Amino acid sequence: MKETIDGLRESFEQELSKAVSSEAVEKLRVAYLGKKGSVTELLKGLKNASADQKKELGQHINQLKKQVEEKLLHQIEAIQAAEEQRAIDGAEQYDVTLPAGGDPGSYHPITIVQRQLEEIFTSMGFTVEDYPEIVTDYECFEAVNVPKDHPARDMQDTYYLENGQLLKTQTSAAQNAILRKYGAPCRSIFPGRCFRNEATDASHENTFFQMEGIMVDKDISISNLIYFMKTMLSEVFERDVKVRLRPGFFPFVEPGFELDINCLICGGEGCSTCHHSGWVELCPCGMIHPNVLKMGGVDPEKYTGFAFGLGLTRLVMMKYGVKDIRDLNSGNLKALSQFRHE
Ligand code: DAH
Repeated sequence: MKETIDGLRESFEQELSKAVSSEAVEKLRVAYLGKKGSVTELLKGLKNASADQKKELGQHINQLKKQVEEKLLHQIEAIQAAEEQRAIDGAEQYDVTLPAGGDPGSYHPITIVQRQLEEIFTSMGFTVEDYPEIVTDYECFEAVNVPKDHPARDMQDTYYLENGQLLKTQTSAAQNAILRKYGAPCRSIFPGRCFRNEATDASHENTFFQMEGIMVDKDISISNLIYFMKTMLSEVFERDVKVRLRPGFFPFVEPGFELDINCLICGGEGCSTCHHSGWVELCPCGMIHPNVLKMGGVDPEKYTGFAFGLGLTRLVMMKYGVKDIRDLNSGNLKALSQFRHE
């Protein structure tokens, strides 16, 4: 019996030295330690031995079993380490410092114009603010003087979350927080994505961009508003643009205006873009309503301010002659990559 044990050990070691894959090692494990494996059979055979033999042989067999287990484990570890090393050595070598090459991609036209506007406004002393797309009813409506049941809400249906929050319908939703953040004086712009529950067509989308701005200080008047709007639009369109103000109602401004620019497509003669009026509506604005200042923690007796809510998406369409607003959200690279040179 003792010889059998030693013979088994020898043959195991020989076979193990040839087992160079995980599968071969597993086969070996089954052959020696499996239910019908050689070592298992030896242990089973013990039942026929005498009590003394049982003790002595039992020890030898258990020792062999332990050795086999340990050696199998070592072998499998060595194989795995070698496999990992092979994977590392064989991996594609590349230099991460090299330029990417190929197609460099392009900025979305809305990003291009947004950045341009940010540059113009920061050069005039404005800060640029980021604000969440998910806001509360208070931020989006009540804090800008649109209480519950106000008819102005009808024009701004949106998407509601189960917890009562909503996707902001206008960048005006950030006005209160920014007034509270800076107090007076304050000059800030806040571009952002807005959402409305609308049927889509060539000029309506449920997702679009606006860029809001506010300026609050002592003695701010409509002339300041006109100056900033005209400067901004002339820079964006790279020419002197004519603007006009018409009365317009928005609950958060008093007085409120619609700012139109002279149609750049026809130069004011009248065409389909401007509905033959020579003017295009671009930027609603006005003097911030005292209630809005008050809710933002600013004393309306001491300070006044203007606000505007530029339709960024519409401005982009005007600047680049985009006829269908849906093209801007389509992810159509053929259309969007035209702007790569900017
Ligand atoms: N929030 C308005 C809208 O989406 C646009 C607007 C109008 C913003 C007048 C203003 C403003 O700041 O003064 O319809």
